[in-house]
Amino acid sequence: MKHIAYFTWVLTSIFCGAFVFASSSPAQSPSPLIQNVAGRKTISLNGDWHYLVDPHEEGIARRYYLNGKPFGRRDFVEYDFNTAPTLRVPGDWNFQRPELQWYEGLLWYQRSFDYHPQANTRTFLYFGAANYRARVWLNEKPLCEHEGGFTPFNCEATSALQEGANVVIVSVNDTRHADDIPSLRPDWFNYGGLTRDVLVVQVPRRFIDQYSVQLDRGGSHHITGWIRLAGDSNESQKATIRIPELKLSTEAAVDKDGLLRFSLDAPNLELWSPEKPKLYRVEINAAVDQVSEEIGFRTIETRGTDILLNGKSTFLRGIDMHEEPVGRSGRAHGENDARTLLGWAKELGCNFVRLAHYPHDESMVRTADRLGLMVWSEVPVYQGVDFKNPQTLARATQQLTEMITRDRNRAAIILWSVSNETPKSSERNAFLQQLIKTARTLDPTRLITTATNQTNSTEPQKKIFDDPIIADLDVFGVNEYIGWYEGVPADLDVTTWATPYEKPMIVSEFGGEAKYGLHGPVTQRWTEENQEEIYQHQIAALRKIPFLRGTSPWILKDFRSPHRQLPRLQDGFNRKGLISEYGERKKAFYVLQKFYRELAAQTP
Ligand code: GCU
Repeated sequence: MKHIAYFTWVLTSIFCGAFVFASSSPAQSPSPLIQNVAGRKTISLNGDWHYLVDPHEEGIARRYYLNGKPFGRRDFVEYDFNTAPTLRVPGDWNFQRPELQWYEGLLWYQRSFDYHPQANTRTFLYFGAANYRARVWLNEKPLCEHEGGFTPFNCEATSALQEGANVVIVSVNDTRHADDIPSLRPDWFNYGGLTRDVLVVQVPRRFIDQYSVQLDRGGSHHITGWIRLAGDSNESQKATIRIPELKLSTEAAVDKDGLLRFSLDAPNLELWSPEKPKLYRVEINAAVDQVSEEIGFRTIETRGTDILLNGKSTFLRGIDMHEEPVGRSGRAHGENDARTLLGWAKELGCNFVRLAHYPHDESMVRTADRLGLMVWSEVPVYQGVDFKNPQTLARATQQLTEMITRDRNRAAIILWSVSNETPKSSERNAFLQQLIKTARTLDPTRLITTATNQTNSTEPQKKIFDDPIIADLDVFGVNEYIGWYEGVPADLDVTTWATPYEKPMIVSEFGGEAKYGLHGPVTQRWTEENQEEIYQHQIAALRKIPFLRGTSPWILKDFRSPHRQLPRLQDGFNRKGLISEYGERKKAFYVLQKFYRELAAQTP
């Protein structure tokens, strides 16, 4: 008997497969990204979500999105979210359950929530990030799908929502593919899941979805910007912008592209800088919708080989960071983790951080705004990428667009990076040039960069930075590992550096590995003394480079990587951190701290 029921189900599924698949696949891509959801009316869906692992990707055919119950008389249902275990959101699944540590694949999340829709409003489900491919259903209706593990997206939920109990189901798949961004072999742990906040966002039918409020370049204390209203356009086409602390306000008028543009003179404006990270409350009112935000105002530009912050020559005293917390396994998220990690950077004497190799949580860049740390933000176009594939370019462009849209009003962010260590080729150059063009169109106010390790070395100790992509950049980053992957630390003493480009350079990576607590002669790899030695020679060499305008050594903290399996030394960690995963400072930490304190003392 039972077999007949089962086979009827299989047959039905096969025949209805096409139909099932059609209704199963989310109808559309996400709606335009809503900026500053933190400043909006939201309901948090963070907390415990039921989950089902789906290694053979059968959930679609089994219609998990229908949230079925196994005891139905007619329907054959072989899953039940309500009796399934739970995972905390936000959070990766890998370090919540030992059996999921190395799981890469499809996993389904489910949770219910109460909601009372209000008249004349629209509602969106907002995801801070879901690694890597996410599909969202609400009350069995497909809402949207998204690709990319480090940028936010929101799905329109207005018509699918119901009064009272609602059920949201999200499938997340972190399987890696060669044509994805990043591609197959990033040197970091592939944390899967709903790794950042999930929120229900309610807005009026006509609302402010994106806006830019920036200081004009050239230090004129002139603020300009635009506001974009979403929703039916026959309502208000006006908005006011106010900065109460400066008793400033102005009206914005709609232009031919439907954007409301404005400009404002702000003679008494105090500029944002790492020394004085001044933020102002900015209020935008558009008849039926209001939004406010803390925004800092600064200018960032280059002049020859110099970088000017607020018109003043600036050296970027930086450190690279991955998005991992100190003293806990998994992905970092939220303000506390941000404060801890950026607090470490401050203790090192930094005024700059490179958030590698992907956009970090929004709270990281907002905390950098508040703490006064300039930021390099990057999309994970990392090493070997399928540069010939237009879909891969579309993926990279989408992630770049989402990164810039989310963070365009962060004073801390001074550099958008379009890639890291990509091998030179005409396809690669064309790919990166497309991204650079997109970034400049989306945000003409910031500097564009990339990290390259493509140097031309005619002789062993002669480094020539002539990667052709530098021609398209404002600032170029160079990753070099002299003393670790290449030669010995003393080689740095005789290395010469040159470039045909009249542009500022940042050494965006240098360093070596050390196991905290392992001591020995400076020549012995993996010891703290060897790492210290590398830093001493690197810093002495870098001081001599005339066009060097910043450094961000690799890396603040030891981080997880599947590449790093050396027993008793790495044990799954890349050990180039200046602090261990438990927050223990290695000797090289103090070498860099001393260098940065000297530089800070010399800054007028
Ligand atoms: C590269 C790369 C990093 C990597 C580092 C290393 O330069 O950009 O992602 O972790 O080197 O090898 O440690």
